[in-house]
Amino acid sequence: MLVVAIESCDGAGKSTATDRVAHMVRGHAWHHDAVRNRDALDKARAYREQRRALRGWRGAVIVADRWWLSSLVLSHVAQSTVDTLASSVALDGEHDRVVRYAAAIRREVLDEIDEEQAEGLRVVTVYLRASLDTLRSRTSPARRGGDRWRALPATLAAYEALAPTWCQHVVDAEQRAECVAADVALIVQRERRQ
Ligand SMILES: Nc1ncnc2c1ncn2[C@@H]1O[C@H](COP(=O)(O)OP(=O)(O)O)[C@@H](O)[C@H]1O
Ligand SMILES: [Mg+2]
Repeated sequence: MLVVAIESCDGAGKSTATDRVAHMVRGHAWHHDAVRNRDALDKARAYREQRRALRGWRGAVIVADRWWLSSLVLSHVAQSTVDTLASSVALDGEHDRVVRYAAAIRREVLDEIDEEQAEGLRVVTVYLRASLDTLRSRTSPARRGGDRWRALPATLAAYEALAPTWCQHVVDAEQRAECVAADVALIVQRERRQ
């Protein structure tokens, strides 16, 4: 079973690309059910459960709107925020708490990857790269100003830091949606033949 995971920040065009690409390659488009009002660790666990429920799926390729890299990014953001603060002020217990929290999210992800490998599930991650200005311009005015909006620069920095290790492909998401989808579809076709 092959999962092609589309990853990036809010506004990059993941949901759009997921649907277009799945249609183009006759695959199955898959989106998580939103989990609200829980902390990042609880969300990471809940989203992992949703992904796990897909394991037995027997069909062609699944094109997924986010996968575990999104959780790893949250862990990275928590860790780097506390690292930055720690260099300017003493945080004591708070520092340790956040470090443990970031590590717990990371552990969820690493366990999930082990589980996928043990079950022969192949996950290929595609990072949709876009600039901060582009990401902001594609966020609807109603969604600007919340926590996720404020965290956008840190989230982008985390994706940029993690992509070289965790993403097999990078696609230029500054292009028109049709071109982004065509690039990703080509990747899916090539991966599928392997
Ligand atoms: N390549 C693109 N160029 C311009 N606008 C785009 C592109 N891809 C998506 N959009 C638009 O940007 C907004 C965010 O796209 P969406 O797919 O919801 O992003 P994400 O799921 O990554 O948050 C939507 O209004 C969508 O129509
Ligand atoms: Mg989306």
